[in-house]
Amino acid sequence: MDILEAINKRQSIRYFKPDPVPQDMLRKIIEGSLRSPSASNSQPWEFAAVSGAKLEEIKQAFIENSTTMPNLDLPISLQYPEPWVSRRRAVMAGVLEKLGIDREDKKRRMEWGLHGFRLWGAPSCIYIMIDKAFHLAETTSNVWNIFDCGLITQNILLLATEYGLGSIPAIQPVLYPDILRKILGIPDSRLFVIGIPVGFVDQSNPVNQFRTEREPLEKVAKFY
Ligand SMILES: Cc1cc2nc3c(=O)[nH]c(=O)nc-3n(C[C@H](O)[C@H](O)[C@H](O)COP(=O)(O)O)c2cc1C
Repeated sequence: MDILEAINKRQSIRYFKPDPVPQDMLRKIIEGSLRSPSASNSQPWEFAAVSGAKLEEIKQAFIENSTTMPNLDLPISLQYPEPWVSRRRAVMAGVLEKLGIDREDKKRRMEWGLHGFRLWGAPSCIYIMIDKAFHLAETTSNVWNIFDCGLITQNILLLATEYGLGSIPAIQPVLYPDILRKILGIPDSRLFVIGIPVGFVDQSNPVNQFRTEREPLEKVAKFY
């Protein structure tokens, strides 16, 4: 698959088949992603690729915790001004529409939220972490760590596409990082940046037919 084809083919998947992802495939995806650039070649990333019973334990613990306030390692702002808030609303509306869930239907929306805590049914999840001491080494947090993690995330997503897998980069899988650290035996010195559930795509679920929009080139780029 050429790069442009992979970029266009990749989309966030929100319904996976339960079929396991071969461990070898997970290894190849992470190994292949490691040529990502990073600031000063610092390679701030570490990974936890979780499947099977451990992932089930995480999903269960997240569901049990789902009514408590999230405690993300990295700050998040939900106060988006325009035009960004409209883009976010469009994603939420598009997903709910494909699922046939009414915006006012709180019960079904809550069930959908729980499906997210089940990692949209994915049999594996690649979590990306950074070291707290490095991230907080300066007076302000080292945002370039996160930038670098974004670069390697896209490599992972594209390689998953190449291997015929669906994926979704998501914050929901890292909403309760203390649970992740406890179940995986990861020290407090590691911060969870993002989770990437991966698996085979359930093509029969309409939510996976939802395609997000992009602004046209003319609106976002000027050529000088
Ligand atoms: C940093 C980041 C966090 C995200 N978190 C979530 C999430 O928690 N739940 C979700 O459904 N999608 C999440 N997404 C997926 C975005 O909604 C999605 O990438 C965006 O709408 C564009 O759609 P596409 O990935 O299908 O092209 C996240 C994406 C990124 C890059």
